[in-house]
Amino acid sequence: MLETLRLDGRVAVVTGASRGLGRAMALALAEAGADLALAGRSKPDLEETAHQVERLGRRALVVPTDVRVLAEVEALVARALADLGRLDILVNNSGVAHVAPLAEMPPQEWERMLDTNLTGVFNGCRAAAPHFLAAKRGKVINIASVMAAVGLSGYTSYAATKGGVVAFTRALAVEWARRNVQVNAIAPGWFLTEMNAHAFADESLRERLLRDVPMRRTGQAEEIGPLVVYLASPASDFMTGQTIYLDGGHSAA
Ligand SMILES: NC(=O)c1ccc[n+]([C@@H]2O[C@H](COP(=O)([O-])OP(=O)(O)OC[C@H]3O[C@@H](n4cnc5c(N)ncnc54)[C@H](OP(=O)(O)O)[C@@H]3O)[C@@H](O)[C@H]2O)c1
Repeated sequence: MLETLRLDGRVAVVTGASRGLGRAMALALAEAGADLALAGRSKPDLEETAHQVERLGRRALVVPTDVRVLAEVEALVARALADLGRLDILVNNSGVAHVAPLAEMPPQEWERMLDTNLTGVFNGCRAAAPHFLAAKRGKVINIASVMAAVGLSGYTSYAATKGGVVAFTRALAVEWARRNVQVNAIAPGWFLTEMNAHAFADESLRERLLRDVPMRRTGQAEEIGPLVVYLASPASDFMTGQTIYLDGGHSAA
C-alpha cells in the first residue's frame, strides 16, 4: 500500500516554493521521489529551496514567476516540461494576506489578494490544462484556508479569495473528472510562517487566535507534507473536488 504514495519519476510544479508551506510541500514531494519546478518571485529563496531538494537527491528547477501574470505561469509550465521532461503535479500555493477591517481595507490590497490567491490558482490551472488534458492524467492541489469556512474580523477579503479557491476546485474537479485529472484543495489552519509571524509574536493576539483552535496550537510546516504527498500520488486517485482542512480542529469547532 505504501508504494502507492511514491512519486518516483514524477515532476511537480510548486508555486510559492520560496518559503513557508510551499517550501515544506516541495521538500515532502521530493522526499517521496518527485523532481521539482520551484516558482515564486524571490530567486535567492527559491535557490535555497532548490539546494534542500537537491540534498534529498532530486532535481530542482528555479523559475522566478509572478503567479498574477498568466504569461509567466505559462512560461513556468513550459520550462518544467522542457527541462524536467514531464509534468504530473501542480501545487498552487502562492498567497498573500492583508489583515484590516473592511472599512479601512485599501482597495489595492483587495486586488492584490484576489490577483495572487485566486487569479494565481486560475493561472496555474489554465497554464497546465493543455498538458494535463493531452496527457490524460494529472494532479492539482490548490491551497485554500480555514478562513474559507470560518469568519474572523479583518479577514473579509482574504476569506473571499480562499472561498473562491474552494469553489473553483470543486467545479474544475467535476469538469476534469472523466479526463483523469484530480483536483483537490488543502485548507490549512494557523501555521506559523512569515505570513502571520507578526500576529503570533503578540502574546495576547496569539492567545485570542488559538482560542478558536481546539488543539490550542499552530501547525508545524512539516505537518502539511504527508497530505500533499497523498493528494499528489496514486493513493488519492478516487478523490477529487475535496477540500481537506488541516487545522487542529478549527473548522470543526
Ligand atoms: N500560514 C498559515 O497560517 C496559512 C493558513 C491558511 C492558508 N495559508 C496559505 O498557504 C499558502 C502559503 O502561505 P505561507 O503561510 O507559507 O506564507 P508565506 O511564508 O508568506 O509564503 C507565501 C509564498 O507565496 C509566494 N508569493 C506571494 N506572492 C506571489 C506572487 N505574486 N507570485 C508568486 N509567488 C508569490 C511567496 O513567494 P515570493 O514572495 O518569493 O514571491 C511565498 O513563497 C498561502 O496561499 C496562504 O494563503 C497559510
